Amino acid sequence: MLQSSVRHRKVSDIYCRVDSTSCLKLTRAVRNRCKKYEHLGSDVDHSQPLFTTELPKFEGWAPAWSPSQSAPAAESAQRINVESGLDLSPPSVPKTSFSDAREHALEQCYITHPGSLTCSSASVTCDERSGTIMLSLKASVRSTEGKKANRLELEELGWLALKLAAEERAAALNQQMILPCEHDERHRQVLNMLKNGVVLDATKSVNSFGHVSYVVTLEDQVSKQRCQALFKPAIEGDGEGWHRVPIEAAAYHLNLLLGMDCVPPAVFRSACDVDWQHFDRGGAFIYWCSAATGLSKVPPREWGCHPDVMLSDTRILDVLIQNSDRHEGHFMWAEHWAKGAYKAGRVSHDAWRGRMHPILIDQAAGFRPEAFVSLEHENAFGSGPTNTISSKTYMRLRFLDLPAVTAALGEYISPEEIRSLLRRKDEILHHFDTLVGTKGYHQVVLE
Ligand SMILES: Nc1ncnc2c1ncn2[C@@H]1O[C@H](COP(=O)(O)OP(=O)(O)O)[C@@H](O)[C@H]1O
Ligand SMILES: [Mg+2]
Repeated sequence: MLQSSVRHRKVSDIYCRVDSTSCLKLTRAVRNRCKKYEHLGSDVDHSQPLFTTELPKFEGWAPAWSPSQSAPAAESAQRINVESGLDLSPPSVPKTSFSDAREHALEQCYITHPGSLTCSSASVTCDERSGTIMLSLKASVRSTEGKKANRLELEELGWLALKLAAEERAAALNQQMILPCEHDERHRQVLNMLKNGVVLDATKSVNSFGHVSYVVTLEDQVSKQRCQALFKPAIEGDGEGWHRVPIEAAAYHLNLLLGMDCVPPAVFRSACDVDWQHFDRGGAFIYWCSAATGLSKVPPREWGCHPDVMLSDTRILDVLIQNSDRHEGHFMWAEHWAKGAYKAGRVSHDAWRGRMHPILIDQAAGFRPEAFVSLEHENAFGSGPTNTISSKTYMRLRFLDLPAVTAALGEYISPEEIRSLLRRKDEILHHFDTLVGTKGYHQVVLE
């Protein structure tokens, strides 16, 4: 059953419905992925799912299997497409129409346990009039290998498949909600320059605590793109916790998980050479924002974002990382690393011009064991305890879980620090859930 008028493209793991009119308001992340393809067609049957995703492979015991094999092969797990007669179906872009893709991509079968075959399918539809989306996840499980079917065992495997599929779909969608596509790409470029860029020059400075840092120019050897960065060498004892430089990278990743994007991109390089000196402890390379000045000098109405959201986001981040060093000088107004565009360079390379934006610098005091930072505390702008929250941050906090934090921050902080961060996250959510209960949604949540 082909509907050749409806085309599709595979973008990441999403099959985007090419349709500029249907339910896109409800699925912003999907729209971001889809809009590149809007020109390809718009004659869509609205009763059909907006998009479908392939169900994830299950980890653990799930070797490839096909009818030609009497036993599961000892290779890694692979999807088996029932529609095409149990041939191995490569996870590639379907070549025909969207509806055809749906038939072939919707139902995916896996061996989650020897002696059984689990097939599952998923769809998302939306009703624009009532603003409701409907999710369907379906699983079927049957015995194989001539094994006698045990109804309860098969049901158990089916529930497990549904649980894993739902978890992975939620995690994948959360990942997409974090950054718009175009910013995502720029972040990747900047991180690459910070991590691998060659140091072209360096200017040293020493702060009042004797901590040395360098403003450096980095160049990507392939693209020849350049950026400036602040190099903070790691120091023995981390300045009693006030100068733990890998936390610059940890805070950057956490701010992204929360969809904030107000902490400059930062990486940690292990051993490195800067200014003809070798730093065997390594150090943090932090994107250096042009035209930086103190945020307190800029009237809040010019910040380009809701000032209450900015201050609430900052405090939530600082509670999570227990950063007791968020004084006024660490709120800056500067060119953003991802919101902006390249302008043609007059000499050899294009120059990045970022939009002026509030940014948060210096996260190196985070996770100091003696710190105590709470939502109740006053902030540097004197706006009092934090009793409002951005709706976006509220939602992203809900999805901040052990796998997400471990994947993003695991190389910078210990498992115990991750656990305590997650405990603070639960307390923050409890604080706002309670406030919404007592004061009402619109008194607490900033849209
Ligand atoms: N990412 C950045 N972009 C632009 N300027 C920055 C950035 N980070 C720091 N600075 C400037 O460098 C100064 C010192 O940086 P900071 O991170 O506070 O280091 P430290 O307190 O360890 O000396 C800041 O006061 C600010 O003027
Ligand atoms: Mg500082």
